[in-house]
Amino acid sequence: MNEREERIASDIAEAVKEYEALLWEQVERNDRMLARTAEAKAHSGKRIIGLCPGDGIGPVLMREVHRVLDVLLKEELSSGAVEFRTIEGFTLKERLAAGKTVPDDVLEQMKGCDCLLKGPTTTPNASMGVTDFESANVFLRKAFDLYANVRPVKIPEKGIDWVFFRENTEGEYALGSRGAAIGDALRVDYKVTTYGGTERIARAAFDYAERTGLRRVSVVTKANIMKKTDGSFLRLAKKIAEEYPDVETDSWFVDIMAANLVNEELRKDFHVFLLPNLYGDILTDEAAQIQGGVGTAGSANLGDDYAIFEAIHGSAPRMVEEGIEEHANPASLLQAASMMLTHDGFAEKGRQLEEAIAAADAKLGSAMTGTAEGGTCTEFSDEVLRGLEVL
Ligand code: IPM
Ligand code: MG
Repeated sequence: MNEREERIASDIAEAVKEYEALLWEQVERNDRMLARTAEAKAHSGKRIIGLCPGDGIGPVLMREVHRVLDVLLKEELSSGAVEFRTIEGFTLKERLAAGKTVPDDVLEQMKGCDCLLKGPTTTPNASMGVTDFESANVFLRKAFDLYANVRPVKIPEKGIDWVFFRENTEGEYALGSRGAAIGDALRVDYKVTTYGGTERIARAAFDYAERTGLRRVSVVTKANIMKKTDGSFLRLAKKIAEEYPDVETDSWFVDIMAANLVNEELRKDFHVFLLPNLYGDILTDEAAQIQGGVGTAGSANLGDDYAIFEAIHGSAPRMVEEGIEEHANPASLLQAASMMLTHDGFAEKGRQLEEAIAAADAKLGSAMTGTAEGGTCTEFSDEVLRGLEVL
């Protein structure tokens, strides 16, 4: 063997060893999911909401959303029924200094809360001197086992009322930072689908469709190509569908579904979407764009005993570099806050906020261009407060 072949042989041996370990880890994770019986979390009666402003435009967005929430939860905050806790040490700089995507003390602060409202976080990359640094979002979704990523998109005047149930812990994301590198010749990433992981997201979607009367679930995969993973996801989803005779179920491949979402005739008839992780990531950006931009849709990451509510867009470092972060659109983080209120038992306030966002968007949405000439974050949240009749 020459030097190159020796290196490749050693990389392959290493990758095979690592692969075996990965497979065992995933089998054990599946077993834990199947063995799990949801136990009610001990609750102090007080709701502690952790606020993570995040990076880039995050702090500006959070400042405005916090202002709106202070108004909506005025009584609960003064009676002590709700407490906001700002999570410290979670900026990109602090995470890089700690050498961890979520430093241990930050994770401890988060665990002390009942849920988090989170701004966008930047994933460190090679230009910051690190590679294989996992995204904080992905880390937190796994750490709190937040398996359902729920993303509503509504455009009433176009008859669109969609809710995406994106599987949030598996697929390409499960081992995204742990692929194999074989010399300079080959790179392999892994995609993971488990029985337990598919079953729980499918039930979440079908339960929701049944409960809300949105009686159609469309399962989206690429099972014609990804035969093992998507094949299993689709088969199991169809099996679970049989337990919900009142819910209509159909299945689509992700490429044609991407086209369907811009087909004005067809798209009105879709309601609940059930998708593996990466397709959910991609189609929800498309859907949000159809609604008015990725800055307009909120996202809930739900597990059995924790939840994180966040904007679906990124931290937009470009806007900060150009000094125009005050022009960021807070609609997505506001939507996330509205979902959080509903989830936390304040459904009426959640609905009021959703209405106020829609009204502000109708008035100012087109001016929120994310440029120096566009509307500002404060103008938008002022409009939301006006809608709530408190300004
Ligand atoms: C999202 C984002 C994240 C994802 C990124 C920031 C890791 O795009 O929440 O959709 O890919 O899930
Ligand atoms: Mg995304």
